[in-house]
Amino acid sequence: MATVVIVGAQWGDEGKGKVVDIYTEYAQDVARYQGGNNAGHTLVVGNEKTVLHLIPSGILHEGKRCIIGNGVVLDPKVFLQEIDNLKAKGYLKDDSQLVVDGNVHIIMPWHKAIDIAREKAATGARKIGTTGRGIGPTYEDKIGRRGIRLSDLVRPEIFARKVEEFLPEKNFFLEKFLGEAPLDAQEIVAEYAAYAQRLVRYLGCASTLLNENIAAGHNILFEGAQGSLLDVDHGTYPYVTSSSTLAGGACTGTGVGPRFIDAVIGISKAYVTRVGEGPFPTELNDAMGEQLRRTGQEFGATTGRPRRTGWFDAVALREAVRTNGMTGLAITKMDVLNELETIRICTAYDCDGKRLETFPRDAEVLSRCTPIYEDVPGWQSDLSGAKSFAELPAKAQAYLRKLEAVTGCPVVLVSIGPRRDETIQLLNPFG
Ligand code: GDP
Ligand code: IMO
Ligand code: MG
Repeated sequence: MATVVIVGAQWGDEGKGKVVDIYTEYAQDVARYQGGNNAGHTLVVGNEKTVLHLIPSGILHEGKRCIIGNGVVLDPKVFLQEIDNLKAKGYLKDDSQLVVDGNVHIIMPWHKAIDIAREKAATGARKIGTTGRGIGPTYEDKIGRRGIRLSDLVRPEIFARKVEEFLPEKNFFLEKFLGEAPLDAQEIVAEYAAYAQRLVRYLGCASTLLNENIAAGHNILFEGAQGSLLDVDHGTYPYVTSSSTLAGGACTGTGVGPRFIDAVIGISKAYVTRVGEGPFPTELNDAMGEQLRRTGQEFGATTGRPRRTGWFDAVALREAVRTNGMTGLAITKMDVLNELETIRICTAYDCDGKRLETFPRDAEVLSRCTPIYEDVPGWQSDLSGAKSFAELPAKAQAYLRKLEAVTGCPVVLVSIGPRRDETIQLLNPFG
């Protein structure tokens, strides 16, 4: 048996959903451990595309248990809509396939209102570019011990009491500070009571379930959302999300001890993208950046925003290798580079005239860094049809070997298109 954590090794949207879908074949359980519907994980099966925001990306495989761990923040309306969409497509025939931990924190209307109003009011460097889904404010209240959990939501009196208790302070802030309309407690209680009725059947305990299944010898997949550089502690603070996106989050976010984690696979594009604000040393604000965006169809799966694009950044990736204890690297979107004559890899930064090999821990310092590149020849051919590493063009193989050398992490999977069959596995983390 093995447990494998999948993390984004960059700033999100690396193709985690696709890789989790591929690896689910070898696992019995798939668990999300942090984030919420700020995530957009895309799965392409045949010609059918599915974008998941909350439900683990293993859900298209019948009979595989999908678990939403305590570390996730849950918008009930989005979650129920996602269930309905999946059922309409013929998936999730058996509701017992899906379990949500009772300790997940519920995204309330005030969290969304505050998130959106704050972002609207922010100017210049204060803008974060949040997805506006209420993620930050929900985690603030969780840490501030004034959150509402799923286990509260399903108990009507407790839920109503908490709404009555917390709303006055939220309305004061919304009205007096942000200049927004106040919210109505009774409307909220009525709306959420309807969600609670449907949600109760999915209620469970992620920690008990996962630990029992580990003892029973299951293979387990943990699905990270966002990316390592968006981690609230180790990312480019304050231009980050509000959760622990790193592999360590899999433990606190599900109630599984660190000694049960066997492998950590970081997902990375063959180049880099970022949505939202914050420093991005290898960003390309030119025709090449536009070409990557167009060829890679780099538009957000959640908000539709154009993603910022740039060359592969080995300095940033090495940071992700270290902070996650990464054991393997999955490189996606190799096909997007097919036409390029020359590909650039950033191997170090220049910061105020000094060469930096390690990622600065301060976003302000990072914003002053410029990339030092090594140029490698592109393969200038179509990769489709390649079923093994050996079938890739020699220059594509050399690019991947170069990425291993500059990141210090072995490549275990290569993705050459969005579909399941456009995947090459070099080493299976489940053995
Ligand atoms: P996630 O948030 O990490 O799951 O990634 P997203 O789903 O937000 O974004 C990745 C996008 O790239 C999706 O549209 C995928 O269908 C697509 N994708 C994944 N792997 C590949 C690949 O190897 N090549 C191409 N062209 N697209 C890919
Ligand atoms: P997946 O799981 C890319 C970014 C937002 C913003 C910052 C904070 O699909 O990779 P938040 O709404 O979390 O408070 O926004 O984080 N962000 C993502 N960027 N992919 C994601 O998820 C993201 N989730 C949040 O753009 O810059
Ligand atoms: Mg995404």
